[in-house]
Amino acid sequence: MNQETWSAVDAYFEDCLIGEDPALENALRASAEAGLPLIHVTPTQGKLLHLLARIQGARKVLEFGTLGGYSTIWLARALPESGKLISLEANSDHAAIAETNIARAGLSHIVDIRVGRALDLLPVLYQEDIGPFDLVFIDADKSNIPEYVDGSLKLSRPGTIIIVDNVVRSGLVADSADQDLGGRGVRHFCQLIAGNPRLSATAIQTVGSKGYDGFSLAIVME
Ligand code: SAH
Ligand code: DHB
Ligand code: MG
Repeated sequence: MNQETWSAVDAYFEDCLIGEDPALENALRASAEAGLPLIHVTPTQGKLLHLLARIQGARKVLEFGTLGGYSTIWLARALPESGKLISLEANSDHAAIAETNIARAGLSHIVDIRVGRALDLLPVLYQEDIGPFDLVFIDADKSNIPEYVDGSLKLSRPGTIIIVDNVVRSGLVADSADQDLGGRGVRHFCQLIAGNPRLSATAIQTVGSKGYDGFSLAIVME
């Protein structure tokens, strides 16, 4: 099995289960044209996020890392008209592209992009008292994942779902010699979950058009 196969299988499932979707395709095209890095979730991953939000009956979603708003659109579409999605993005150029993409998808009334480093924006959220969120998607800088999970817990209720992207990193997560800050962030995050009775979690390895990676899924307990 190789990358070619994984990409072909993703293309097959995208064609079969997702089909044409102008809003999402426009968002990717505009993001690529603006020179944004091509690190958004894949279509099948985006739909998984969407389905998880639907299964959860989510009304309020918190996202770390907007980029061009691709995952944001998938998640926001799962919410009712009165729903809210707050997405935290450090790069104002990324946020501006995302705003346009989200407006074109007709989701501006649901999505609120906050520009700044997530660690600086979290205290503002605590002050605003807008939680608890029903679902959190953590997909910003990987070294701060433990802090983002801590912050999310403050904005959660029993039953809140916390999803963390990119926890496998081509297998680096299990390499004890790996010095990468992101890898360390993921391992620290695993220890944090293991030591926290408020969280029950798993992690799933994935292959696809974005290579070999994976995500973690956690639920906040009583
Ligand atoms: N969720 C997006 C991809 C996000 S890529 C999607 O799947 O479509 C990661 C994003 O996190 C980038 O846009 C990057 O600018 C942003 N980011 C990096 N460090 C950050 C920080 N400290 N706070 C907030 N956002 C950050
Ligand atoms: C990177 C970030 C992501 O969120 C992702 O899904 C893939 C790669 C990165 O920073 O390289
Ligand atoms: Mg990611």
